[in-house]
Amino acid sequence: MSFDELHKNIAETLSKEVDSICQQFTVTETKMQELTDYFIESMNSGLEPLPEGETEGTQSSRLPMIPSYVTGKPNGTEKGLFLAADLGGTNFRVCSVVLNGDQTFTLKNMKNKIPEYLLDDENVSSEELFAYLAKRTGVFLKRYYPTIFSNPDGEEELKMGFTFSYPVNQTSLCSGTLIRWTKGFNISDTIGKDVVQLFQEQLEKEGLKRIKIVALTNDTVGTFLSHCYGSGSSNSLASGDVSEPVIGCIFGTGTNGCYMEEIENIKKLPQDVREKLIASGKTHMIINTEWGSFDNECRHLPTTQYDIDIDQKFSTNPGFHLFEKRISGMYLGEILRNIIVDLHKRGLILNQYRSYNQLPHRLKTPFELSSEVLSHIEIDDSTGLRETELSLLQSLRLPTSPIEREQIQKLVRAISRRSAYLTAIPIAAILIKTNSLHKRYHGEVEVGCDGSVVEYYPGFRSMMRHALALSPIGPDGERKVHLRIAKDGSGVGAALCALVA
Ligand code: BGC
Repeated sequence: MSFDELHKNIAETLSKEVDSICQQFTVTETKMQELTDYFIESMNSGLEPLPEGETEGTQSSRLPMIPSYVTGKPNGTEKGLFLAADLGGTNFRVCSVVLNGDQTFTLKNMKNKIPEYLLDDENVSSEELFAYLAKRTGVFLKRYYPTIFSNPDGEEELKMGFTFSYPVNQTSLCSGTLIRWTKGFNISDTIGKDVVQLFQEQLEKEGLKRIKIVALTNDTVGTFLSHCYGSGSSNSLASGDVSEPVIGCIFGTGTNGCYMEEIENIKKLPQDVREKLIASGKTHMIINTEWGSFDNECRHLPTTQYDIDIDQKFSTNPGFHLFEKRISGMYLGEILRNIIVDLHKRGLILNQYRSYNQLPHRLKTPFELSSEVLSHIEIDDSTGLRETELSLLQSLRLPTSPIEREQIQKLVRAISRRSAYLTAIPIAAILIKTNSLHKRYHGEVEVGCDGSVVEYYPGFRSMMRHALALSPIGPDGERKVHLRIAKDGSGVGAALCALVA
């Protein structure tokens, strides 16, 4: 066989193998129906009281469905100054929010990239993490509110809402114990502890006694509330607006969503708590579904060998958040990295490297390939995929041939498409469970979304729409769904929680 023939042969085999991998990433209409049904089942069992002896979040077949203790939706007329702290996937944000009472707000914001050692080092203690958060809060206060900072004994309290975007067993509006870390943290001594108490203690040690954490919330709840605040008019039919905020969700480093459930259905809340709420006129409570943990037993989730490897070999929380591991920004690049390494192992790609050991170091490093790189590859239409070549060189120091790049682009598109298709499952399931598409005139609904993937990944929202039309709500349902980007959810949402506290 001539060199050219050999080359052609390898290219054809690579293309065939890649097609078969892409095939494993497709989510069919039948699969969507099956997954949506199972999602509704998992929501329903998650609302039931925990089986005896079980602790929240350890059961795989039910969704955590965490009561948030937030029982109302803002309507845009709320007012006041609040502090908000937000520990999320990659950043710790401190902000002050002034709610102007007219659906607008003014925000002062300081973003801190979480130092690597807090994420990577297993020996880091809770105290070190929360001391870091308190220090950064001090820096914020000194910068933006110097008079308050220099008067720690002043009388007036500054109310703070704490957005903590990890699964928490919430015990009241202002307390909750960490169930487990997700998205990279691995500090074992935080698990089971009340995160508000841990933070408040460190704020006091830092001399920030005037700051009082009055509300603990998840970023999805914040997103939902801030979306309601900003679209205030949609709560009132009188305004002529017929769409209603129904879901708050995040598709970023992690993924999750919340919605309002009838208190009567939240059987896991003690009966006296339910009765008290209902007697005081409350009818609904926001539930943080923690849908990242949907189908941890993989009974129905589409699963490839790469998903199994990432979960078992590389993630910090094996066996948990398996839905998230197929969807969120933290994992999209890692899926591609695993596939490329596998194709190399099978002699189909990057044959200039004779063995695994010779591969560029960055390609061998878990989680080194970011979803941002995938977003460049996704839309590259340059000749010979030059943009892709540069992106891979820059991010992984990985040289590639045009044929290899063509295959890598196919893989990227299959990975992102599966992610976007899976996002339609919880959205469709919640809309069906709450019967939202058939309530009110026209049944138009709003889904407030936040997170880097939904906001910046090219074509992601339009793929979500395709998937919603294929889901059991069908094209008619899809037309009634308005996906809206809800910015600054965690800041404004935390302020709104602090206001009702
Ligand atoms: C966490 C959720 C959070 C989501 C989005 C997940 O990993 O478990 O609590 O809402 O990420 O940030």
